Amino acid sequence: MMDLSRTVYLNGEFLPAGEAKVSVLDRGFLFGDGVYEVIPVYGGRLFRLDPHLARLDHSLEGIRLANPLDHPAWRRVLERLVEANGGGDQSIYLQVTRGVAARDHGFPQDAEPTVVAMSNPLPAPAVHREGVEAITVEDIRWHYRHIKAITLLPNVLLRQQALEMGAAEAILLHDGQATEGAASNLFVVRGGVVTTPPKGNLLLPGITRDLVVELCRDHGLPFEEAPVYEADLREAEEVWLTSSTKEVVPVTRIDGAPVGDGRPGPLWGRVSDRFRAYKEAFSHGEVD
Ligand code: PDD
Repeated sequence: MMDLSRTVYLNGEFLPAGEAKVSVLDRGFLFGDGVYEVIPVYGGRLFRLDPHLARLDHSLEGIRLANPLDHPAWRRVLERLVEANGGGDQSIYLQVTRGVAARDHGFPQDAEPTVVAMSNPLPAPAVHREGVEAITVEDIRWHYRHIKAITLLPNVLLRQQALEMGAAEAILLHDGQATEGAASNLFVVRGGVVTTPPKGNLLLPGITRDLVVELCRDHGLPFEEAPVYEADLREAEEVWLTSSTKEVVPVTRIDGAPVGDGRPGPLWGRVSDRFRAYKEAFSHGEVD
């Protein structure tokens, strides 16, 4: 249960979560007509805020909704929210919907967007001595997977299917290609090369994905962006999943079969050490 005394931002006000109420006529509630972001906070600092806000702009453009706040205003709101919730490590969730209007599929003429931002505690990521299990499933989502839409029913159903099979994540297959997880991006190591599928409408352009790509390039690890076919996934030496809340997670079993030797791999070890060092430096204000 969420702590209802945590501070939430709703349409210009900061108030306790228990008092933040949105109308039943909100199009987010009725149609899932909105977009969102999840932004980690380390040492009280918003991690990679500019790329998150740029992705928010792209998502809003994708659903033809003007951003109700400019970037400096978003920064002010989110910094105040972080402070009101005690600094340290947090995960910010923000959402913009097309607002409150009588239910009609067409866009309303005069609705104001609903803007919500809230913060959850961000626990330190799991220590991955064993890695996690994943299942593969057919990607049943819509075609605009690069938009971070709040309409997440397929992702919810597929993640739940994984959980009920004792796995941590569902890896999505589209036309024979493994694209991403239900709420994470995908990396595989094949022939010693770190590979992730290219951006496009088949997957969400993850901020953690971009950081892992940067870390590979900066540290001279062999890397490429290329489609990952189902056979590549099943024959990979290593498989990782990345997200803002889970960081870089090694997958050691897929559909019950071991990945590589069934242990988190050496390249994962190098990348996750570098990720941790970067995050540490960020939370001490040493890098941006
Ligand atoms: N989800 N792909 C999908 C479908 C996602 O939902 C997410 C993140 C990612 C990873 O993106 P990032 O590295 O920017 O977090 C990829 C968030 C964490 C969520 O829905 O809670």
